[in-house]
Amino acid sequence: MKQPIKIGLLGSGTVGTGVVRVLQKNAHEIEQKVGAPVEVKTVLVRDIHKMRPYLEGIQLTDDMETILRDDEIGIVVELMGGLHPAREYMLAAMEAGKHVVTANKDVVAQFGRDMFEMAERNQVEFLFEASVGGGIPIVTPLKECLTANRITEVIGIVNGTTNYMLTKMTQCGSDYAAVLREAQEKGYAEADPAADVEGLDAARKAAILASLAFNTRVSLENVSAEGITRITPEDIDYARELGYVVKLLAIARDLGDQGIDVRVHPAFLPVGHPLAAVSDVFNAIYIKGNAIGEAMFYGRGAGALPTASAVIADIVAAARGLVRGNAQGVGCTCFEHKPFCPLEDTISAYYIRLLVADQPGVLGAIATTFGDQGVSLNSVIQTRRVGPQAEIVVVTHQVQYRKILQAEHCLTQLPVVSKISNVIRVETAAEGNG
Ligand code: NAP
Ligand code: HSE
Repeated sequence: MKQPIKIGLLGSGTVGTGVVRVLQKNAHEIEQKVGAPVEVKTVLVRDIHKMRPYLEGIQLTDDMETILRDDEIGIVVELMGGLHPAREYMLAAMEAGKHVVTANKDVVAQFGRDMFEMAERNQVEFLFEASVGGGIPIVTPLKECLTANRITEVIGIVNGTTNYMLTKMTQCGSDYAAVLREAQEKGYAEADPAADVEGLDAARKAAILASLAFNTRVSLENVSAEGITRITPEDIDYARELGYVVKLLAIARDLGDQGIDVRVHPAFLPVGHPLAAVSDVFNAIYIKGNAIGEAMFYGRGAGALPTASAVIADIVAAARGLVRGNAQGVGCTCFEHKPFCPLEDTISAYYIRLLVADQPGVLGAIATTFGDQGVSLNSVIQTRRVGPQAEIVVVTHQVQYRKILQAEHCLTQLPVVSKISNVIRVETAAEGNG
């Protein structure tokens, strides 16, 4: 029998323990697929005295050097999360000639270039399938299976926590704080859930997806991010009334000469769009390529076992290389240097909710203000009163973001407008979906 492939695991939280469980549960099948047994030899923990019954029989260490110096360990699997020391540990592992597998989108989105350069220099793999979409295969499909295409658009629901929260708020009218707590209890949320609800987690994934789709390096700082903290039950009700659902979307478009447009924000999505039906913790990534047309990848975007599924796919790929003696796979695919489209130049339709004085001539004044700034209105509705004031909802036609910002500024100067309660982008229907 072939010598076992030994793993050094960094971190044994939600995903780390999921990986240990799945490797044990499916040991026989994984051995057949790799051509050798795959075993976790050592786990790096912060406190070696803490009881960890699920790691019985596995060596624990609180010293990274133990793993780096162990020549038996061929693959280091980083599941600690955060930028530091995860980044440094992964670089050191590659320098020591070990393949690295990670679910850490923070490091990939901010230091992807450094990681790939180190992998290249040391002829090892740097694999990160679980960093986007939890259990959904999307990194390998973009790097390999769809490589024939020129990809023009990627739209994803890539944060399980916020999709779970928006789904519960839409279906059951649940309270924001209660659904966030549920998502945390289920192991979906990041250690600091602000990253989920403020759109940062999705922005990191958007950067990774855009880099892979457009073959140009997109880092976190190139992505504009807005989360779901300003979404209220009123917005969700208006969306329903107008034929939309509210989703947190990661949008990446290659606009040719205008550059790359990558952003994360809540959006009104037509109920007929393929992504509108993606509920709970499920994620999906919708792609347009010039050969495949439209494609969508769907599955569980967070949680111990779904994420372990993606991590182990990478472990198996690296382990097969070790068994067969062939080192590197595809490596870095960012061979272009495309410019970025400024956010103000991006084009979208908008939903705008305002509180105004309930008196004659107000609608006219608002419509004129939009018109003066070159914003054309698609519909205006007035259904609710809030105290002595009226609530007005406006949906615009497609317009440059800079014109919306100008219109917002002018509206706040009107004495009849007391508040702009929210401004949310409206996505159009996908091809073939009306
Ligand atoms: P988690 O439950 O917080 O687990 C992280 C573990 O790493 C904890 O056990 C922690 O130890 C340990 N750790 C942190 N810093 C350490 C250090 N310096 N030395 C040793 N151990 C350290 O996080 P998770 O949810 O498993 O996420 C792990 C990674 O997977 C993150 O990059 C996350 O973004 C990514 N991810 C998570 C999911 C998901 O559904 N949860 C899905 C996809 C990707 P203590 O117990 O001592 O704090
Ligand atoms: N916190 C993340 C989410 C975990 O909710 O999607 C998966 O990356």
